Amino acid sequence: MTSHVSLRPLQAGDLESLWAARMRSDEPWADSSDAARRKLRDRVANSGRVTHGELLLGIVADGHLAGEIQARQPEMGLPPGVFEIGIEIFDPTVRGTGIGRRALGLFLVHLFVEEHAHRVQLTTDVDNAAMRRVAEHLGFALEGTLRGFMPTKNGPRDYVMYGITLGAFEEARKRWNSTG
Ligand SMILES: CC(C)(COP(=O)(O)OP(=O)(O)OC[C@H]1O[C@@H](n2cnc3c(N)ncnc32)[C@H](O)[C@@H]1OP(=O)(O)O)[C@@H](O)C(=O)NCCC(=O)NCCS
Repeated sequence: MTSHVSLRPLQAGDLESLWAARMRSDEPWADSSDAARRKLRDRVANSGRVTHGELLLGIVADGHLAGEIQARQPEMGLPPGVFEIGIEIFDPTVRGTGIGRRALGLFLVHLFVEEHAHRVQLTTDVDNAAMRRVAEHLGFALEGTLRGFMPTKNGPRDYVMYGITLGAFEEARKRWNSTG
C-alpha cells in the first residue's frame, strides 16, 4: 500500500514521464507527432492553474511522480462550476494500491473548495473496474450509460457516467475521514 499521496503542478522535468505514458497508450488517437509533444509541453507549462479549460496536476506517491489528474471545463462544453475528470496512474504495476483513490479525493477537495465546483463528473469504460470502484468509493453516483460512446480499435465502447454534487461531496467527505 502506498503511504503518502499528494498533488502538485507538473514541471518541465516531468515531460519525459508524461510523454512515455502517452506513447504506451493503446488509444486509437495516441499522437506521437512533434505538434502533440509541443502541446503537451504547453499543458505542463500551464499546470496548476485553470488554462484553456483545463486544470492539470501531477500525482506524487512516496516522493515520485506516479500519474496525472485533470479537470476539464471546456468553455463551450460544460456549464460554469461543472468539471470533468481524467486520471492516469502511469505504472500498471502500482495500480490497485490506493493511489488513484487518494489522488482523486484530494482533487475533489480542491475543485469543490478552491475552484467553487458545484458538480464533478467522470466517464469511464463499463469494464474499467478500478475507475468505477474509485468513483463509487468516493461517493460519485452512477448516472447512466453512454452507449457506443468511445471509439476504439474494436469499435465504439459503452461508457458509464458518474457524478458528484457539492452536497453529496460534503456528506461523502465525512465518511472518507472516518474510514481513511
Ligand atoms: C483508474 C485508475 C486511475 C485508478 O487508480 P488506482 O490507483 O489503480 O486505484 P485504487 O488503487 O485507489 O483503487 C482501485 C480499486 O479498484 C479495485 N480494482 C479492481 N480491478 C482493478 C484493476 N484491474 N486494477 C486496479 N484496481 C482494481 C482495487 O482493488 C481497488 O479497490 P479497493 O479500494 O476496494 O481495494 C488507475 O487504475 C489507472 O490509471 N488506470 C488506467 C487509466 C484509466 O483507466 N484511467 C481512467 C480513465 S476514465
